[in-house]
Amino acid sequence: MLLLTEYRNPVRPLPNRIVMSPMTRLRSLPDGSPTSDVADYYAQRAAAGLIVTEGIWPHSTGQSEAWVPGLQTQRHVEAWRRVTEAVQANGGRIFAQLMHGGRKGHPLARVDGSWPAGPSAVLDDDHVHLINGGKGEPITPAELDRAGIDALVEQHAVAARNAIAAGFDGVEIHGANSYLVHQFLADNTNLRTDEFGGSIENRLRLPLAVVDAVAAEIGADRTGIRLSPGNPQFNMVELDPAPLYRTLVTELDRRGLAYLHLTDNDNYSALADLRPRWRGTLIANVGENRAPTTVEAAEDVLRAGLADLVSFGRSFIANPDLVHRIANELPLAAIRENLLYGRTADGYSDYPHWQPAEVPAR
Ligand SMILES: Cc1cc2nc3c(=O)[nH]c(=O)nc-3n(C[C@H](O)[C@H](O)[C@H](O)COP(=O)(O)O)c2cc1C
Repeated sequence: MLLLTEYRNPVRPLPNRIVMSPMTRLRSLPDGSPTSDVADYYAQRAAAGLIVTEGIWPHSTGQSEAWVPGLQTQRHVEAWRRVTEAVQANGGRIFAQLMHGGRKGHPLARVDGSWPAGPSAVLDDDHVHLINGGKGEPITPAELDRAGIDALVEQHAVAARNAIAAGFDGVEIHGANSYLVHQFLADNTNLRTDEFGGSIENRLRLPLAVVDAVAAEIGADRTGIRLSPGNPQFNMVELDPAPLYRTLVTELDRRGLAYLHLTDNDNYSALADLRPRWRGTLIANVGENRAPTTVEAAEDVLRAGLADLVSFGRSFIANPDLVHRIANELPLAAIRENLLYGRTADGYSDYPHWQPAEVPAR
């Protein structure tokens, strides 16, 4: 099975091609520090070729929901160090996903109570989790000014430095699924008329500035990026994704990044179109906005040469030993959906490894 073969990359060789996809689980403390449950959860999944953490805010003004973790303070760094050490003690590798909410968020969901700001003042109709346990009403974000844009580029660099100090192998910039970077790329969330909006060149300016700032801080070989070209999920509108993402991927390709993590979709075959434009490591995700990724679908992608690695999301939630189950063709356990965002170990770090059925005594 291709998924189980080593990935012989000179910079970062991996024991298999199975990546744990980033998944927000809302298990951090109110200040954004991950708990010991978070360390347990990732350590249990360390057999993945690579783990990408849940989205983490680089700065409190980018916090999208309550209980999402951060990488801004010394306390965050120390708490994350316990997570990376637990993963590494089990032989794993782990990247931190830097997830800035941009327009997504709510003052009652944030440690600093700030009002969200994005490329344009366009209503986000998401109902995010609030600190009081409820869901927020949709709000219209402020439009970022030039100083705000400069600040958030710098905040990504600082968070990346913090990630390395916390022992992560690298960071993944979240450029997908409606978060800040995606908001600058998409048609409905970026209505700017300055040098950050309008033409393709302008819409790529902020995303590339973030990538360059992070790569300058921690090295391109420790900087990955996730993109979801043309995926209409989360009310994103990208009318003609091909020209924009071809230009973006060509630009990124020159930078020698650790990897590109690309989600495919039915509207635009991102993997087929962009793979020829990317010479580095490519992680495919084929489940976003679709049924959970299957082993068969992942194998097809690898066999077709569309990616080097495949990320699995939902299957990793209920199957800490996913790699073992895939290797031994064992059935997969089901997710307890009501506990996805439960804030305790229930439905999080308490999913068991495969238990061979007891052999009845003769
Ligand atoms: C509970 C949950 C939380 C998620 N949170 C994130 C996130 O923080 N960052 C991200 O890039 N994708 C996130 N995703 C998307 C997954 O990384 C993945 O792309 C998606 O689940 C499709 O893969 P799958 O079919 O293998 O589950 C999340 C998905 C789920 C189910």
